[in-house]
Amino acid sequence: MNRTFIIETKNTLYCFDADGNGVLRHLYHGKKAKKEDFEVIGERDYNSPSGGLDDIFEEYSVFGSTRYRNTAFKCEYADKCRDSVFKFKSSEQTENRLDVTLLDEAYNIELVLTYEYSLESDIITRYVTVKNKSDGDLILDKIASAEISLPGENAYDITNTIGSWGSEFQLTKEKLKNGTLTFQSVKGITGHTNSPFVAMSQNATEDFGDVYFASLGYGGNFKIEVQRDFRGRTRCIAGISDFDFRYVVKAGEEFTTPKIYFGYYNGFGAMSNDMSRFAVKNILPKSFAEKELPVLYNSWEATTFKVSTEGQKTLAKTAAELGCELFVMDDGWFGARNDDNAGLGDWQVNPEKFPNGIDELIGYVNELGMDFGLWFEPEMVNPDSDLFRAHPDWTYHYDTRVPCLSRNQLVLNLTRDDVKEFVFSSMDEMLKNHNIRYIKWDMNRPFSEIGASNLENQRELWVRHTMAVYEVADRLKAKYPYLQLEACASGGGRGDFGALNHFDMVWTSDNTDPLDRLDIQRGYSFAYPIKTMRAWVTDWNRDSRPVPLAFRFNVSMQGSLSIGSDLTKLTEEEKNEYKKYIALYKEIRHTVQFGDMYRLKNIANDDFYAANYVNENKTEAVVFICASANSLHNKLSKSVKVKGLDENYNYEIDFGKEKSVFSGSFLMNRGLDVNLNGALDSKIWKIKKV
Ligand code: DGJ
Repeated sequence: MNRTFIIETKNTLYCFDADGNGVLRHLYHGKKAKKEDFEVIGERDYNSPSGGLDDIFEEYSVFGSTRYRNTAFKCEYADKCRDSVFKFKSSEQTENRLDVTLLDEAYNIELVLTYEYSLESDIITRYVTVKNKSDGDLILDKIASAEISLPGENAYDITNTIGSWGSEFQLTKEKLKNGTLTFQSVKGITGHTNSPFVAMSQNATEDFGDVYFASLGYGGNFKIEVQRDFRGRTRCIAGISDFDFRYVVKAGEEFTTPKIYFGYYNGFGAMSNDMSRFAVKNILPKSFAEKELPVLYNSWEATTFKVSTEGQKTLAKTAAELGCELFVMDDGWFGARNDDNAGLGDWQVNPEKFPNGIDELIGYVNELGMDFGLWFEPEMVNPDSDLFRAHPDWTYHYDTRVPCLSRNQLVLNLTRDDVKEFVFSSMDEMLKNHNIRYIKWDMNRPFSEIGASNLENQRELWVRHTMAVYEVADRLKAKYPYLQLEACASGGGRGDFGALNHFDMVWTSDNTDPLDRLDIQRGYSFAYPIKTMRAWVTDWNRDSRPVPLAFRFNVSMQGSLSIGSDLTKLTEEEKNEYKKYIALYKEIRHTVQFGDMYRLKNIANDDFYAANYVNENKTEAVVFICASANSLHNKLSKSVKVKGLDENYNYEIDFGKEKSVFSGSFLMNRGLDVNLNGALDSKIWKIKKV
């Protein structure tokens, strides 16, 4: 007797069954179809295991038997057996949740596959819990959050990102005809190389085509494997990386994987917008998820490590004048931190730089009407620091190996309770004693010499470290509900839904060149909510390749606008421009941060860039247009069709100098011409329902 399970979301169905042998077979994920028919297909020969378990689409494959491919799960039982046989045991389904329990009877170990869903979106949240009900240790060698089976036998286009420091989130798409494509991090954090999400599509554009999307809620070592076999079957397995992974689940204990969020869409635009809306409601920390993020000023590019009360005050005064709402002092305020050689770990205010303490600056910033924020890199220590001198054993290390420094620093062993407590209290002390309402939490090196002799099973360090970071972030937020947290790792190395479940936003990249940013931001917008994308206007390349201020603002206003320029160098005329754009951003902020976003044009394909944002009830929109650096092509006229408006509404468009009224249907179907006045010209069109 088959048991069929059907999950219904806003526009899709997801279906699998347990066959007569207790094997879970994946049956369908896609547009809605008649539910009863899935009972019939389950009884027919579809997906039948005639050729062995290697041939079928399983809901969650385990190592062993006749499976000759990568599986989602692998373990070793107490008697050294590594062959798993999990069969359907029971299930429980409510309106929003399905739990299916599988049992390996010989060992009394259970796997519970959990699915959470609703009719509000097409995202299904999945995770797996292994319950060790035996009386011996269970060694996990691999436990993915999900296996995703893709319909049909045609090859899929697989999208991820590639990048490095300063070039994060570069979208990359390739057809997987044969073999396995792996996207991963083995650095201890997500890093810049790949992203923990994947889109698997056929004939897809922004507007149409089959798109299967999955994004992991985890920012440690991750692995996404997409495999296509000789029959043309494509499967994706995603979760914590099995690289140097081993986790021991003791008798009577359990282990739950990170969540994975996945869905089926018609086009990449629908995918990004549904994922973003879902994330704001369900993933981001509750305290700020539904609130507009402030325009912040960060002093890093202006001062680097050379911070002082007077210098910061001067910047703060101008930042407030321009309209900034939050002032963040970056690296350099603590210990003997005059460059990146020393001081990390000594989280006490530097008395030479702040002779009267930090409250003088904070008080001044508050009087100017701004909140105050501070930079920390809490997981790190410089060997040249009081902390390291007092606790040389607090880092990951092997006694026989010389530790490799990266940016002159070492990673603290957060799997130790005392170290984790230190990390919490270093920030807690500052928050307790000063009016600090924002922390930029940085992380600037990958792990090495990963010895953690405090752990019985040292290979658990990867997971335990990541969980410790989330735990400390949650504790801080619980104690200081007004605290906003920004996740940073040498720029965008912590841009993922693991971090975004505990941090309110992400520092996208240290590269603030506006042209480069268009690609970086486009990649970020593919998978993550726009409001979480901090985007600074800076002086970057001001001399070597000058970019007009209007263009720089245009780009940064497409995320959570922030300012990072050296404000002491601004002319009065420039200050007025800053004021004008910051005021304009405040008018459109709600639409940008919470609206649907449409990627209209990009420089690589169209020689100019355009994107538009539309608020929830389609009464307001904004269009951003940027010419490339190519003056030849930008003399030609371009056209832009706005997306996501209501065809039946009339809209007034404010072009800056003049205004006109058009119908939604005209703007979306015919569109408007745009005359770009040469290289690096830019436009912002403000649209309002009349
Ligand atoms: C790396 C970050 O990405 C920068 O924004 C800045 O905070 C520096 N670290 C400070 O050392």
